[in-house]
Amino acid sequence: MSTHCADIKFLFEPRSVAVVGASHDASKIGHKVLQNILSNGYGGKVFPVNPKGGEILGLRVFPTVNDIPDEVDVAVIAVPAKAVFETVKQCAAHRVKFAPIISSGFSEVGNLDEERKIVAYAREHGMRVLGPNIFGLYSVTPSLNATFGPADIPKGNVAIVTQSGALGIAMIGKAAAEKMGLSAIVSVGNKSDIDETEILEYLVSHPQTRAILMYIEGVKNGERLVKRLQHASREKPVVVIKAGRSRRGAIAAASHTGSLAGAAEVFDAIMRQCGVLGTESIQEAFNWCKFLASAVLPLGEQTVIITNGGGIGVIATDACEKYAVTLYDDLQDLDRAFAHVTPEFGSTKNPIDLTGQATVDHYDGALEAARRHASIHAALALYCETALFDVASFAPMIERSYHAFQADSKPILFSALGGERIERLTEELRQRGIPIFGDVTDAVSCLGALYQYYRYRTKPDVVIEAVALEESSLAKTFEKARQEGRPFLLAHEAQQLLRCAGVPMPQSAVARTLDEAVRYANEFGYPVVLKVVSRDILHKSDVGGVALDLDNEQEVIDAYGAILHNCRTVMPNALIDGIEVAQQVPAGTQLIIGARRDPSFGPIVMVGLGGIYVEVMKDVSFRALPISRQDALDMLKDLRSYPLLLGVRGEETRDIDTVVDVMVRVGALLLACQDIADIEVNPLIVYEHGQGGIAVDARVLLAQGGQGR
Ligand code: ACO
Repeated sequence: MSTHCADIKFLFEPRSVAVVGASHDASKIGHKVLQNILSNGYGGKVFPVNPKGGEILGLRVFPTVNDIPDEVDVAVIAVPAKAVFETVKQCAAHRVKFAPIISSGFSEVGNLDEERKIVAYAREHGMRVLGPNIFGLYSVTPSLNATFGPADIPKGNVAIVTQSGALGIAMIGKAAAEKMGLSAIVSVGNKSDIDETEILEYLVSHPQTRAILMYIEGVKNGERLVKRLQHASREKPVVVIKAGRSRRGAIAAASHTGSLAGAAEVFDAIMRQCGVLGTESIQEAFNWCKFLASAVLPLGEQTVIITNGGGIGVIATDACEKYAVTLYDDLQDLDRAFAHVTPEFGSTKNPIDLTGQATVDHYDGALEAARRHASIHAALALYCETALFDVASFAPMIERSYHAFQADSKPILFSALGGERIERLTEELRQRGIPIFGDVTDAVSCLGALYQYYRYRTKPDVVIEAVALEESSLAKTFEKARQEGRPFLLAHEAQQLLRCAGVPMPQSAVARTLDEAVRYANEFGYPVVLKVVSRDILHKSDVGGVALDLDNEQEVIDAYGAILHNCRTVMPNALIDGIEVAQQVPAGTQLIIGARRDPSFGPIVMVGLGGIYVEVMKDVSFRALPISRQDALDMLKDLRSYPLLLGVRGEETRDIDTVVDVMVRVGALLLACQDIADIEVNPLIVYEHGQGGIAVDARVLLAQGGQGR
C-alpha cells in the first residue's frame, strides 16, 4: 500500500507530538526530550509513550502510540535501535505523519538493511522519517523544542540544518552565547528519508527564517539539492559549512554518517553556482548568519570606510579586496562629500581618515554624510581607542546611526579595537543587535557575504538555451555499441555523436580499403591524418596506429600500409574495423571539455585548458548541468589559465564564443542522452577571435544498462 505523505509543514508545526521512549528516569534522552518540549511553551498536545504507563512530568503516559486517543502529527522515537521498527509500525498504524528517530545504531554503523526496512515500511504507510541518529528538532513557530539539547533556545531568525548531531547541539549553545536567535534547528543524521532539500523547501517559505545555516558532510541527492539551493539562495542567504574536504576528513565523514563526501572542487564550484555562501569556519558562518538575518539589502555596491586610524583602514582595504567589497573611488566627489567633516591632516580619499584626534562628533558628521550620499551604498565605521574619545557618547551615536542607515537600505558595520572599555562597549552593542566587531576583518567578511548574496539575487535569470540535436542519428550511434556489448563508442562514432550536437569536427570517414582512404583524402584536401579504428586498441599512438602530416596521395598510401603492418605486428589479435581518414587541423590553443554523471551531484560539466594546465595544475572548473552561456563563460573565468584565452604578450584573444558554444552543446548532449555516462572532447582546438575552433578527438563512455534516448 502506498499512501500520500503529509506536507513537511506538519513536521515543523505539529498540532500534537508523542515522545516514544519517554522515560521516568530524568537522566535518559527520552525524558529530556519530553522535558524540553514542556519547558519551551509548546502549545500543542503532548503524549508520552512508555510500556510502563503511569505519569511523567505530570502527563499521563500511554503504553503504546495506538493507545493515544487523538491524532499524532509527530512521534519522536527514542527507544533502542532494536525496538525502532516495531515502534514505527505502531506509529504508522496510528497514522502518525512524521517520525523523527533519535536512536543510533543504523547505517552509520553499517546497519543499512534495518534502516531501509524502516523507511520502506514508513513510506508505504504514508509516514515520513527524519534521521535516524539525530538529536531532534526545534521550531520557533509553535515553540517546539523536541531535542535533548539545551532547554533554552534563543528565538530569532536563523535556521540551522545539520548532519552532525553533536555539532548541532553545540551550535545551539553557541547561538545562545553569541545572541544569535534561531527560528529552527534540525538534525538530519543519516538522511534515510527526509534530507536537506525538503527541509530547505519549508525554510524558504518560513517567514521567521531570514538566514539558513547548513552543515553538510555528504550529499546523496545532489541534483535535487542544487535545484532547491538555486531557488533558496534567491530568497534568503544560505550559508554552508562543508566538511569532509580533506582526504582524511572525507574518510572520517564516511564512517560518521554512512555517506561519502563529494569531491571538494566539484562541491565548491556547484555551491558557488547555487549562490550559496560557503565557509569552512564555524565562527565565520555564525558571524555571517547573525549579520545577514538582520541586514538590509543594499541598493548598489559602493562602500566607504570611515576610520580614525590609518593602519586599521589599510587592513580594512586589504580585506575589502579579499572579500570582493567595492570601495567608492570618485576622489573629487569624496572630497566634496567629506571635506567639511574631516579634521585638518585627515584624508577624504577612501578610507576617510578622521585622524587620531577625531571625536564622536566627527564620526557622527562623517557617517551622516555617507548616509545622505546617493552614490554610497554601504559603510564600514572603524574605531581605534584613543584618550580623546568619549566612549559613553559613542554607543548612542552608533545605535542611532545604525538605525538610520537601516531605514535607508544602507548596510553599515562597525569595528572597535581597544581595551576593556571598548570591549564592554562592543559587547553591549552586540547584545542590542548592532553589527560591531573587535576584528575589522570579521566586519568586512560579513559585508562581503552580503554582497555575494546581493549579486546572486540581482543576477539576471539564467537562460538555458535549447540545443538542437539530430535525434534519429543519435539513437543509431548507441545501437551499434549496445549490439556489440561495448561500454564505449569508437572514435568515429563519438565524432558522429558530437556532430549531431553541432560541435565542429574535422571532416573524417572510416576507410575499409586503401582506395577508399585515398578517395577520402583527396575529397577532404591535404594535409590529412590516418588513425586505426579498433575496439581492441585504446591507445592508438602506442602501437603505431596514427600517422600525421600526410601531404599527398603517396604519403597516404605509405601510411595506410604502415599502420596495418604496425598493428598486426604489435597486436596480432586486434580486430581492425578500418582506418579513419581525417582533415588535419592547424595548431591552436587546446582545451578539454567534459561532462559526466557525478555520483553526488548528477550531470556536471567540466572545462580546462589542455596539456599541463589540466594534468599538472589541475586547473579545471565545474558546474552542475544545465548551464547557460553566461555560466559557461563564468566557468572559463574561474580558470587560473583564463588570461591565456584572452591572449598574452600582444596575442589576439582566442575564440571564446566557440568554447562557450561547445561547452553548452556537450552539456546538452549528456542531458539528452541517458546512454552517456561520460563524454570528453580532448582537445578542442581554438583559434583567434572570429576564427572558430574544432574538436579533434572525443571519448564517450556509455552508462551501464542505459538504453536509447
Ligand atoms: N515503546 C515505548 N517505550 C519503550 C519501548 C517501546 N517499544 N521500548 C523501550 N521503551 C522505554 C524504556 O522502558 C525506557 O523507559 P524507562 O527508563 O522508563 O524504562 C525508555 O524507553 C528508553 O529505553 P532504554 O532501553 O532505557 O534506552 P536508553 O534511554 O538508554 O537509550 C536511545 C535509548 C537514546 C534511543 C539510545 O538507544 C540511543 O540510540 N542513543 C544514541 C542517541 C544519539 O546519540 N543520537 C544521535 C544524536 S546526535 C549526537 O551525536 C549528539
